[in-house]
Amino acid sequence: MGRTVAVILAAGQGKRMRSALAKVLHPVAGRPMIRYVLDAALEAGVDAVVVVVGRDAERVQEACVQAAAERRPPLAFALQEEQLGTGHAVLQARPHVGEADRLLVLYGDTPLIEAAQIRALLDAHAAAGAAATLLTAVVADPTGYGRVVRGGDGAVLRIVEEKDATEEERRIQEINTGIGCFTPGPLWEALQRVEPRNAQGEYYLTDVVALLRGMGHRTAAVPAADAEAVLGVNDRAALAEAGAVLRRRRLLRLMREGVTVVDPATTFVDADVEVGEDTVILPFTILEGRTRVGRGCRLGPGSHLIDSELADGVTVMQSVVEESRIAEGVRIGPFAHVRPGCEIGPGAEIGNYAEVKKSRLGAGVKAHHHSYIGDAVIGDNVNVGAGLVTVNYDGRRKHVTVVEAGAFLGCNVNLVAPVTVGRDAYVAAGSTVTEPVPPGALAIARERQVNKEGWVERARSRPAGDGSA
Ligand code: UD1
Ligand code: CA
Repeated sequence: MGRTVAVILAAGQGKRMRSALAKVLHPVAGRPMIRYVLDAALEAGVDAVVVVVGRDAERVQEACVQAAAERRPPLAFALQEEQLGTGHAVLQARPHVGEADRLLVLYGDTPLIEAAQIRALLDAHAAAGAAATLLTAVVADPTGYGRVVRGGDGAVLRIVEEKDATEEERRIQEINTGIGCFTPGPLWEALQRVEPRNAQGEYYLTDVVALLRGMGHRTAAVPAADAEAVLGVNDRAALAEAGAVLRRRRLLRLMREGVTVVDPATTFVDADVEVGEDTVILPFTILEGRTRVGRGCRLGPGSHLIDSELADGVTVMQSVVEESRIAEGVRIGPFAHVRPGCEIGPGAEIGNYAEVKKSRLGAGVKAHHHSYIGDAVIGDNVNVGAGLVTVNYDGRRKHVTVVEAGAFLGCNVNLVAPVTVGRDAYVAAGSTVTEPVPPGALAIARERQVNKEGWVERARSRPAGDGSA
């Protein structure tokens, strides 16, 4: 089939986003928009990619290099210093294209495009023997898109941008998706002739269609199989729409892979998240970033997992887990917060109302009721009583608490770090521990109880306002 080079346009300002971040870097379902376009091109089997960058060029390049890391395709970047239009952008790619039999042009703001659609376009281009084959779509609301003007015989005559269109042309429902396949020689020639004579004063790539026809070339157009997949994201409303589509696709794939998603409408799973078979995801659950979930887990309702690794059979109910590793059979929640840097051992139980930060909890640790464990190493089978606090911060620095295996920490205990509680030791309820507790010892660090017999009776017989005991 010859050599296919993809040119992805990603230099634009994205003004309609009204953002400090370049449009193609906006995350959709957990990945920068540009990644989806690049992935689709690579999956379609293009031989090389040239990305045209401009606004936030370095960061866009970085995102592309990351996306391409696995497949390692020949990847080049062309700098479009001034964003003079899509035609001008494609011309900037020319020195980087090298040997090519066809150019596949993609816009960085169409993240829903899929490899199968790109392959179909490449096939159609070969079959049509045209100098340009555009991917078009027939949509209910064509607002904002370039319209495809066809002649009486159905041939594509030209593309007219909305801002330049007559009222009649605006009624055309067939739109230009911006995705097209071109034969390089004629394309470069036509691009030289494009002039910025339009409402926006830009060099339009879309003008090459009429120019190529004028030069005696054939132009063709194929309608997209799925009009939804060619959405161009120009503003935040479209960003949300694209996110919804990508999430739905992701959830469908998970369900096919054996994950139960009770309510897809209220479940949010980022593109890079992995979930094992027979895991059940209950409503209002969000799985973000590089989260990996094992088999047979139960997540939600209302759980939020960020960049975390869960082994098999983990339960996380109405809780937040960030950047942590959770071993098999752990039960978290309801209402627990596992903050970054935790390793939770097999079968441990955390929450109601427990917070754990940068700590290692051994197997079978139980921290059931409102407690704070920070900067701690807790051994196997330690029982953490209600209201336990590791006092890890002295106002200047954080200190480590060590509790050895089998220890029993009573309710309302403060462990003032740095401090160690030895193996199998007991700490009495209400103790504030500042000295090491030897293995097997009972530590009691609190005032002895005093009972004042008959105190209430005496207090009641005194005149009001006398506070003496
Ligand atoms: C463009 C098409 C329109 C089509 C629509 C599909 C043109 C003139 N119009 O309009 O026919 O219906 O896409 O979504 O092509 N870019 C650059 N450099 C530039 C200008 C743009 O790299 O100088 C990039 C942008 O980053 C963006 C893409 O090209 O990724 C499209 O630009 P945008 O301004 O969004 O074009 P539309 O107005 O949407
Ligand atoms: Ca656009």
